[in-house]
Amino acid sequence: MPRLIIITGTPGVGKSTLSRALARRVGARFIDLGEVVKTEGLHVGFDQFRGSLIIDEKRVRQHLATVLKSGGKVVVASHTVGHIAPRGVDSFAIVLRLDPILLYRRLLRKGWTKRKIWENVESELLDVCYFDAAHNLGLERAFELDTGTMSKAQVLGEALNAIRGDRAQMSRVNWLSKYDPIDLERKLAWRNISS
Ligand SMILES: Nc1ncnc2c1ncn2[C@@H]1O[C@H](COP(=O)(O)OP(=O)(O)O)[C@@H](O)[C@H]1O
Ligand SMILES: [Mg+2]
Repeated sequence: MPRLIIITGTPGVGKSTLSRALARRVGARFIDLGEVVKTEGLHVGFDQFRGSLIIDEKRVRQHLATVLKSGGKVVVASHTVGHIAPRGVDSFAIVLRLDPILLYRRLLRKGWTKRKIWENVESELLDVCYFDAAHNLGLERAFELDTGTMSKAQVLGEALNAIRGDRAQMSRVNWLSKYDPIDLERKLAWRNISS
């Protein structure tokens, strides 16, 4: 089983929910990367446009290396993978996916602004988190899971199978074959439609 399990995906897909449950189940330490970046000051600046901190990947990697040095496994919830995995550590990413329309509704329920919601829906539509994970860890270390029709318990079950080595069930997500991005933007971002 990998020592570093990164649960990634667009905000709202269920990273924190899964990570906490998974860490409990496999006896790993849980790290919410966004929280640690804030509390430990592991950032290099603030992205004014996105309204979020820009993480310092080198210091995040060092932080994770220090935590891993004390032994055991770590589950990290993070919307970015980048270069955060320390070299030489068996690392694996599970990329949670969610149908862009379901994601839109979930973020709307959270009370986010339309601009922020569309930014994230677009990112989900374009596979940004999957590309990030596959590009940085390798295709065989990035497992996609379409959670749209799954309960939280089912997501946990599939994630456990994946980290135990059963990768045959990987969902092949391709939202662009389902949605025309321009139509979707008109429908979701410009009109006040929530269903
Ligand atoms: N499989 C699921 N089915 C339905 N709702 C879910 C599922 N997983 C998470 N949620 C809900 O979606 C919302 C966002 O989940 P969260 O874990 O905070 O996402 P993230 O950490 O990726 O932003 C929460 O209200 C959570 O309860
Ligand atoms: Mg979260």
